[in-house]
Amino acid sequence: APLNALVVGNWKMNGSLATNATLLEGLRAEAASFANITVSVCPPFPYLAHSASLLAGSAISCTAQNLCHEAAGAYTGEVAASMLAELGCRYVLAGHSERRAMFGDSSERVAAKTRMAFNAGLIPIVCVGETLAQREAGQTEATLSAQLLPSLASLSPAELDKLVLAYEPVWAIGTGHVASAEQISSVLHYLRALVASSTGQADIAQRMPVLYGGSVNPASAQWLAKMPEVSGVLVGGASLNARDFSEICRSFA
Ligand code: G3H
Repeated sequence: APLNALVVGNWKMNGSLATNATLLEGLRAEAASFANITVSVCPPFPYLAHSASLLAGSAISCTAQNLCHEAAGAYTGEVAASMLAELGCRYVLAGHSERRAMFGDSSERVAAKTRMAFNAGLIPIVCVGETLAQREAGQTEATLSAQLLPSLASLSPAELDKLVLAYEPVWAIGTGHVASAEQISSVLHYLRALVASSTGQADIAQRMPVLYGGSVNPASAQWLAKMPEVSGVLVGGASLNARDFSEICRSFA
């Protein structure tokens, strides 16, 4: 992994004011040991302001887990990119597999969210990943390409140069089963080649941060951090434990 690695902890729909405060206090206490990388956490929407205030003065930022595909208006229950930016979020996830599978986030919808993120000055982390059935049917690359191309289509070179990708094979999420180094390496090369061929921006594609996500824990973080293709990790379950998440961050530091 490069020195400016990015480690993001996705809390998903977990936590409370009290447990978040304990978790963030634990992370702040360890932050000096991973000061040379970028670390961000994704609290649920209602906790963003609280978490951001607990992280004030630290180098750890907040990432939102999702955003609305529209800028403002009659979208009851939705959250706009501008609101997330105002609360101090630096990044926002777009197209996490749980959103794609359970909440109707089509690849076109994810592309609209990516556009909204950039319009508000946020950095989108566009998530892609195949299911086990798609992998076994030899459809991994076709799936990833269909998921990613709409998001790339409307980006300027300057935006493309800020984009972050996350490869999260669905079969590795929350299963305790990490993809192999070979599988990750092959997909990450494919994704960078896809960005290069579809945008014509080979240099940007080469330096684009691509994270791996799926059952990352302190043990797997050690070998993931040694892979030159892996720019960082998107951590779910293990990000709810300050000691485990700090250890993962330290692997990339
Ligand atoms: O966003 C995080 C991923 O879905 C990975 O979750 O580490 O619990 O497998 P996990």
